[in-house]
Amino acid sequence: MRALLTRIRDSIFRVGWPEDDRKALLAMRSSIILHLHAPKVRPASLRFKATWALGFVSLVLTLSLVMTGIYLMFYYIPHPDAAWRSMKDLAFVVPFGVVTRNLHRWGAHAMVALVTLHMLRVFLSGGYKAPREANWVAGVGLWVLTLALSFTGYLLPWDQLAYWAVTVGSHMVASVPLIGKPTALLLLGDRSVGEAALLRFYVLHCVVLPCVLGGLVAFHIYRVRRDGGLVTSEHAPPEEPRLVPAWPHLVYRELVVTLIVVAVLLAVSFAFNAPLEPLADPGRTPNPAKAPWYFLGIQELAHYSAFWGGVFVPGAFVAGLCLLPYVDRGEAGIGRYWPPERMFACTAFVAIGLFFLVVTIIGTFFRGPAWALMWWPY
Ligand code: HEM
Repeated sequence: MRALLTRIRDSIFRVGWPEDDRKALLAMRSSIILHLHAPKVRPASLRFKATWALGFVSLVLTLSLVMTGIYLMFYYIPHPDAAWRSMKDLAFVVPFGVVTRNLHRWGAHAMVALVTLHMLRVFLSGGYKAPREANWVAGVGLWVLTLALSFTGYLLPWDQLAYWAVTVGSHMVASVPLIGKPTALLLLGDRSVGEAALLRFYVLHCVVLPCVLGGLVAFHIYRVRRDGGLVTSEHAPPEEPRLVPAWPHLVYRELVVTLIVVAVLLAVSFAFNAPLEPLADPGRTPNPAKAPWYFLGIQELAHYSAFWGGVFVPGAFVAGLCLLPYVDRGEAGIGRYWPPERMFACTAFVAIGLFFLVVTIIGTFFRGPAWALMWWPY
């Protein structure tokens, strides 16, 4: 038995257990997963404050969403007559169905928030500047994909919340001049949300978008390594050794973060059930009909002007993010948060972020029937 276990271990760690630096470096080179890391990393990039682990937590959440999503796919039927019933089956019949659905739903919400915070962290430390421009643009793509994945997943339970949130979202798409209406038609496969839309959202959510996301995440992680690792402060203590082996220093930290993320996700998923409203009813419009929370800022702006608020502002924001590293090229202060040299850029970015946060809070909590402003949470 012992010999069998040793043989299995040696097939994974071909150079034996990485107990010294030489074996650790060989292990990093010979394992496909460990090989994603550089064999050696700068000690400054290991500090928690260097990343707040936000990129890695986003990665763990992505993997957890893929695993729980596959389990949900075994039971889910993408048809208006069956989709809502499959949600009920998951809740009452399928083994671990309710907790798997909760893990997927809460993980998806957390993913939107954490990827956004990761983007904020990279911005504040100047991580988008040369030579990381392409990786920043790939990151912007990942952010848009994360929102698209959440949005397409929102429809699948086929309850009142899903149906009307996606109806509102598709109206926002249709309001784009020239391309809006054809795009909405392509997305829904019909003039309104129905059988064709559910199937299209299902294919996008379960096949197309995850494949694109997987490819882009692989490119993103590869670029982090090729761009010379993370940006770090030039003010690292001079006595600090230049590089340390990624095993065990980085790999053990990642293991701890993974365990914490899994524990928190499980705790939340056992404590709180994902909502399921009554079956979607196209004849009964809720008042107000609201988009998913991460689009409520845009819905709030669209209330003032469909084009300027709903299309121009978000479009200009994403275009501005992509252009940013090619326009803001100064090198001073890179690797430090909100340094005096980058005071204006950081303050402006946080001000824009706060503006979106405030309009999102107004849209989420302070808009009542007919989108009237309420003075208490509605
Ligand atoms: C699925 C979403 C994403 C995943 C899984 C992911 C993963 C990661 C990981 C693991 C790292 C290295 C560690 C860290 O910084 O925490 C990283 C770094 C980086 N990420 Fe992301 N990321 C995602 C989205 C984004 C977004 C939305 C942006 C920006 C728009 C972005 C831009 C960057 C850049 C420029 C770096 C290098 C930063 C540096 O050198 O300090 N990423 N990402």
